[in-house]
Amino acid sequence: MSATLINNVKNTFIRTFKTDPLLIFSPGRINIIGEHTDYNKGFVFPAAINKGIVAAIQKSELDFSTAYALDLNGKIEFNLDKLKPLKEGRWENYVFGVVHEIQNKNKLIGNFNLVFKGNIPSGAGMSSSAALENSIVFGLNELFDLELSKHDMILISQKAEHNFVGVKCGIMDQYASMFGLKNHALLLDCRTIESQPYEIDFKDYQLMLINTNVKHSLSDTEYNDRRFACKSISKLLSVKALRDATEADLEKIIDKVTPANYQKALYVIQENSRTLKAAKAIEYGDLETLGSLIYQSHNGLSNQYKVSCHELDFLVDQAKANPNILGARMMGGGFGGCTINLIAKTQAEAFAEKVSKAYHREFNKTCSVYFIEISEGTHLVK
Ligand code: GLA
Repeated sequence: MSATLINNVKNTFIRTFKTDPLLIFSPGRINIIGEHTDYNKGFVFPAAINKGIVAAIQKSELDFSTAYALDLNGKIEFNLDKLKPLKEGRWENYVFGVVHEIQNKNKLIGNFNLVFKGNIPSGAGMSSSAALENSIVFGLNELFDLELSKHDMILISQKAEHNFVGVKCGIMDQYASMFGLKNHALLLDCRTIESQPYEIDFKDYQLMLINTNVKHSLSDTEYNDRRFACKSISKLLSVKALRDATEADLEKIIDKVTPANYQKALYVIQENSRTLKAAKAIEYGDLETLGSLIYQSHNGLSNQYKVSCHELDFLVDQAKANPNILGARMMGGGFGGCTINLIAKTQAEAFAEKVSKAYHREFNKTCSVYFIEISEGTHLVK
């Protein structure tokens, strides 16, 4: 968490609203493995990181509320009642969505002022959206004594994303951001919404992210389409979610689905089992196996689930050609954003330099390398 970021948000708040705010840090997340399994009620393996959103919030004496997105230099004054989503892609939808979903739970809030800013680029696949939603619901919960549990809060954040932002996301991002633990990844069962922490100490290896710096414009539609396809296949299989199906079950309905959708469902079933295998590999300190599962995950995301893109595939191919990297894959929803790489510590800088040059040569644009720390979930900054 960056002290400069915190001071920036805090000082802007004090300058603008002439009172001291509550300060909240809400992290983004990485995901070791288990992609597109969350809305299939399966397993994911995320962790909160030391990058995210800082929000400053305080009650307002006026008869309207104000939100200020410092990154975008955007400011909006609004009334709390009858909030409706604005045009797709507007940052205000995160704020309005959270307020609306809190009210939907019959919780009363008064007017407030909010300033926020982050240090993860949106579209990086590191869940700046969940971080923002969580920071707002957490702040409002504190400010107005709403007595919401962390579970209540993440469900509010998720609904805000569904109903105001327009992405029918699973629960992974909001969960990881809210419940994150220092130095631990969380093996989350997305049916029970309960997780088991795994200490992450990869000895001579570390995780490194490479951002393609691309976000394809259709990614939200494509995401919702995938979710819909999975749902319709579960119906055909007469199961609640794909988590409940096996490869053999799927084989039985092969004639009833398109080859493309067959591959998508197969991917989900396989990824779910890879995630459980990855947890075992981490438990036994078997990084070779973990790395190989990570490569397989990318292969499935790219060739079966079809949510990768040239830039992501290129970065994973670069990793594969390097013996110092045990595994690499795209991370998050896809169609851009980051790859996550399991790389030998001593080789990370050299690879970062090499891959950056190669990426520029290939696409005539730059990628960004991030070294992250696994950190605590959404909390008040004292
Ligand atoms: C996005 C969504 C998550 C999850 C991932 C893919 O990050 O918000 O719920 O579905 O994509 O694993």
